Amino acid sequence: MKAISIGIAGLGTVAQGVLTLLAANRSLIEQRSGVSVDVVRVASRSARPDVDLQGADFSTDVMDLLSDSRIDLIVELIGGETLAKQLIVGALSNGKAVVTANKAVIALYGNELSRQALRFEAAVAGAIPIIHALQQGLVANRFTAVSGIINGTCNYMLSAMEEEGVGFDEILERAQTLGYAEADPTFDVDGIDAAHKLTILMALAFGTQFEFAKVYVEGIRAITLTDISYAAELGYRIKHLGILRSNPDGIEARVHPTLVPHGELVAHVNGVLNAVQVVSDAAGKTLFSGPGAGGAATASAVVADIVGTALNADQIVADPVANMSKVILPVEQISSAYYLRIPTRDEPGVFAEVTQILSSHNINIEAVIQKDGHDHGGFVDIVILTQETPEARMNEALAQLEALATVTAPVMRIRVAPQD
Ligand code: HSE
Repeated sequence: MKAISIGIAGLGTVAQGVLTLLAANRSLIEQRSGVSVDVVRVASRSARPDVDLQGADFSTDVMDLLSDSRIDLIVELIGGETLAKQLIVGALSNGKAVVTANKAVIALYGNELSRQALRFEAAVAGAIPIIHALQQGLVANRFTAVSGIINGTCNYMLSAMEEEGVGFDEILERAQTLGYAEADPTFDVDGIDAAHKLTILMALAFGTQFEFAKVYVEGIRAITLTDISYAAELGYRIKHLGILRSNPDGIEARVHPTLVPHGELVAHVNGVLNAVQVVSDAAGKTLFSGPGAGGAATASAVVADIVGTALNADQIVADPVANMSKVILPVEQISSAYYLRIPTRDEPGVFAEVTQILSSHNINIEAVIQKDGHDHGGFVDIVILTQETPEARMNEALAQLEALATVTAPVMRIRVAPQD
């Protein structure tokens, strides 16, 4: 039996999940892996007498974990950026291994951290072993696209808006009450959390540096029930996706609301679930779905990393293709099909003006919806689904559309999922 002594930083939901899981499945983990995990110290700013520390020592200063010579591995579960980064750097330079669920620290500082003794499966999509899949199960493949639902809060909110017809503000309040949103809900609803995770997936799948600043980020605040209902009429669901694609010019890295065709499996992943689709040359399309958050679910990934460290299981720390120059494309250089909702005055000639602008930019229309405007005070939405168009060209067309006297508010533009 191999033994590993760990210190846990943090006593929140995930840390409690790790303590509970290690206690509940101790003999199973030992029999299956030959690894015995011993929690020797837990450190957290505030004590939690209600949590069973299973005989571990307790400190209120997480830095005490660094000087505890019994500890082989520190599990960083305090979240945030500054102290967590200090702890991780301190642990790695003191010769201790690190397991973390902290996507922000990896996405923002991953380039500075030595990855030899650092594992972060729990940082992306909670329980889903997507990092193991990319680095081990699919190691023989070249990846062409990695995309999916990587923020459970956004997915819960968009699913509930569609299923219950409840607006954004009310559903955000409910998501906060249910504890789905993290401490600052803007991280979730503005797409930052998903962009952190996408940054990590990009580095692992495409051998880039951790380039958070180059990911295009849009959240879900602007999505209305009207858009959800028009999208449904056109045969789509609106999902908040992270999208990575390799194309001949470089890598697309973007997080935004997306129209997903109803026939795609990802369109049916609802509630707080996450789903990541990987497209690769040998394995083809694979889809990984499961809980992206929650104490027990995230603990499952944390414990896998602890066991992996004890077994000294191989992980790829330097991508062999990382030295090749990888351009991460600005969003203006992508192409996409688009959903456009154009709020207009209900007057003769408006439809012609709109289509003339699209036509002059060589934008091909795939489908159109225009409802009877009589009950809407002389205003009407023109909803258009376009064929694939370069983003820069679409931006020019949108600027011209919004300059029309008959277009009464900004155009709502939602990209359609690429057909990978
Ligand atoms: N807040 C995240 C989500 C979970 O909603 O998916 C942890 O990353």
